[in-house]
Amino acid sequence: MNNFDQQLSRKNTGSIKWDFMEKIYNIPNAENIIPMWIADMDFAAPQIITEAISKRLEKPIFGYSYEVDPCADSIVNWLERRHNWTITSDQIIYHQGVVPAIATAVEALTAPSDSILVNSPVYPPFFMIPAKLGREVVYSPLLEDRGRYSFDFNNFEEQVKKPEVTMFILCHPHNPAGVAWDEDTLRKIDELCFANNVIVVSDEIHSDLMLNGSKHIPLAKVSAHPENIVTCFAPTKTFNIAGIQAAMVISCDSHKRLEMQNAIASHGQMGLNVFAIAAVEAAFSEEAEKWLHDLIQYLNKNIDYTIDTISKAVPSVKINRPDATYLLWVDIRETGFSEKEIMQKLLDAGVALDPGTKYGQAFEGFLRMNIACTSDTLKEAVSRFIKAFA
Ligand SMILES: Cc1ncc(COP(=O)(O)O)c(C=O)c1O
Repeated sequence: MNNFDQQLSRKNTGSIKWDFMEKIYNIPNAENIIPMWIADMDFAAPQIITEAISKRLEKPIFGYSYEVDPCADSIVNWLERRHNWTITSDQIIYHQGVVPAIATAVEALTAPSDSILVNSPVYPPFFMIPAKLGREVVYSPLLEDRGRYSFDFNNFEEQVKKPEVTMFILCHPHNPAGVAWDEDTLRKIDELCFANNVIVVSDEIHSDLMLNGSKHIPLAKVSAHPENIVTCFAPTKTFNIAGIQAAMVISCDSHKRLEMQNAIASHGQMGLNVFAIAAVEAAFSEEAEKWLHDLIQYLNKNIDYTIDTISKAVPSVKINRPDATYLLWVDIRETGFSEKEIMQKLLDAGVALDPGTKYGQAFEGFLRMNIACTSDTLKEAVSRFIKAFA
């Protein structure tokens, strides 16, 4: 079993989470601050991945490479085994990341005069990337009921019917709300988007981080119109290898694939680098799956601890248990603190979280907390969090 309790220092490794806080939070010294913000974990990747990279290093020529069959097969088998979703390897396009893949989909499959629909709150690149590509962004706010988020289909329908809306970017499971969308919701999204000529880009990067027995349902699997869906997927969140940079875009529509491949080629981009190819194949193996099983147990415990401890100490802070991800969406509206005040108090207490407004202007009163660290670090971070609210 992997030792998730092992404390590994990430300082001075060029880690954005640990080494970049001074810039992000505009503070002179972040030496003693515990980062609970950007979405990566403080755990070593599964040994099978590090071994695969070491093995590749033994052949010290790193020329141009392509994604060999065992890499593609590992993805096809993983999706079949874990999500009961059948794809073929020719439906996969490789990319450096899910965010660049979303950018490619927007660039290749929409026109500059089109509008892109996203929910709010949502992972910031969903609205920043289309805006940077000159597209108008249209929002359909999610409904919230005691911390549980759902689609507001009246509003969603109104937005997808706008003739200028040609693409919807779905976050499934949802970051930051932690929702794994159920089959009814997915079918409604599918129908409404198809009926209104709106392509769905489904970002399923968190789909292997399902907690407490929740199940992930790939949108394209239950879609009545799978040719209308572009799925973005990656092993990087699951196995903590985001710095290796690897992602897949899956589409059963050869026309969409061609358009996206042309957009990728127009930027002179290639697929995965040699180390990513080795890492992907190792990540989607049965051995790494055992590591993932243990990781999920550890994350479940961390989440229970955080929610129990905070809700006892500061009952006005509300945290809903997520279905997926290691990210908690923390509702501080009842505490009376402004975002500016509490962000400062948290930094003063020695812990760095994401402010809610990063996920949409309306989300002052929320914080996003990353609990993917050792239980020792978590205990200290939670006690600092509580101190900030005292
Ligand atoms: C929903 C979602 N999509 C994409 C990413 C980043 O993907 P990548 O590093 O492959 O660009 C993240 C990272 O937090 C995320 O939460």
